[in-house]
Amino acid sequence: MADKVREVIDEFGRPAEFREGLEGVVAALSMISSIDGENGVLLYRGIPIEQLAEHSTFEETSYFLLYGRLPKRQELTEFENKLKSRRQVQPAILDLIRSFPATANAMDLLRTSVSALGLYDTDPANSAPEKNLDRAIDLIAAFPTIVAAIQRRQSGQAVVAPRTDLSHAANFLYMVNGEAPAEYASRVLDVALILHADHGFNASTFTSRVVISSLSDMYAAITAAVGSLKGPLHGGANSEVMTTLLKIGSIEKVEAYVLERLKNKQKVMGFGHRVYHTYDPRARILSQYSQKLAQQTGNAKWFDMSKKVEEIMIREVGEKGIYPNVDFYSATVYYYMGLDQDLFTPIFAVSRIAGWTAHVLEQMQNNRLFRPRAIYPGEKNLAYVPIEQR
Ligand code: COA
Repeated sequence: MADKVREVIDEFGRPAEFREGLEGVVAALSMISSIDGENGVLLYRGIPIEQLAEHSTFEETSYFLLYGRLPKRQELTEFENKLKSRRQVQPAILDLIRSFPATANAMDLLRTSVSALGLYDTDPANSAPEKNLDRAIDLIAAFPTIVAAIQRRQSGQAVVAPRTDLSHAANFLYMVNGEAPAEYASRVLDVALILHADHGFNASTFTSRVVISSLSDMYAAITAAVGSLKGPLHGGANSEVMTTLLKIGSIEKVEAYVLERLKNKQKVMGFGHRVYHTYDPRARILSQYSQKLAQQTGNAKWFDMSKKVEEIMIREVGEKGIYPNVDFYSATVYYYMGLDQDLFTPIFAVSRIAGWTAHVLEQMQNNRLFRPRAIYPGEKNLAYVPIEQR
């Protein structure tokens, strides 16, 4: 961290603190989540993530993030019913998805679909808090339908319409696979959705807040957030983890692979974090699910390989604070569930939409335009050179 946070002199000769990648900069007060990166603790609105993973559902967690308190039974039922009733998306969005190139990246399709959703908002100029809350619920309900439609389309299958008798997670798996999932599979996905729902000022969430801070609109903020999540340093890492494991191919080859990458100063996907310098608590929970799925499927290979990668990474670079992050074990969890690798990062979005929208609502409550500065280290007062003299 030392050389990434330094005192510099700006172009006017004034001292300034330069934090590369805004590391450690406090950009807002936020009541949504809290991360203790040294002790590996994540709270959503004060509640440890382990408790939510054990007792809550994605629907309840979404309510909690949006409204700032746990719902009473009646409130939760009403919220669940609202989500169910809004699962259908405009046929035009599905037509649009069908019209996209079959080879296009699923996150790019999601980004474009979300942007298009905004065109069907019947009251676009209305940015009242109640209206934005309504849009947030629309988006949380619509994301699984859009992502499943993208997956079906990209794999050459007919789009499956949502059902209203299934939970959020179960309905998503139903729309992806065309058949209702086993109870355990729904619960595993439900837990994964809870664990990915919010995480402070990560790149995509910060993106959504920057966009809304200009008083743009919810769809613009979420579209930009999807674009940010796609990157392999952020949500794209879960798919990269699976690519890595498949490429390594066997447990015997793990050590040589990891050592080679470290020797060449290359990153091992699914490790390291800007905030955590210890084990990511979400990875700890997902690792347990990966292990259970390995047992249930009778295929321990991918879990065992992951454990081996983890063991070598901690041995080699643990003292630098590099440990597994959320993407490391979500990869094998999804893989064991038979989910297509192209779906891994979109599933992250199906969950994080709850956090993004909660942050957009919070930003709007007490908005101030985000506008940091950059230091210009170049030459000044240069003369304009006519084109024929260059
Ligand atoms: N594998 C190997 N080394 C890693 C590493 C990884 N996954 N992540 C960080 N490091 C090392 C860097 O090489 C660097 O070492 P150095 O100081 O000797 O040069 C040091 O740790 C700091 O890394 P840096 O990339 O500056 O940290 P950051 O805070 O900017 O990055 C991530 C955080 C997440 C972008 C980074 O850890 C990463 O790229 N991880 C892999 C992608 C991933 O899993 N992303 C999902 C995050 S939830």
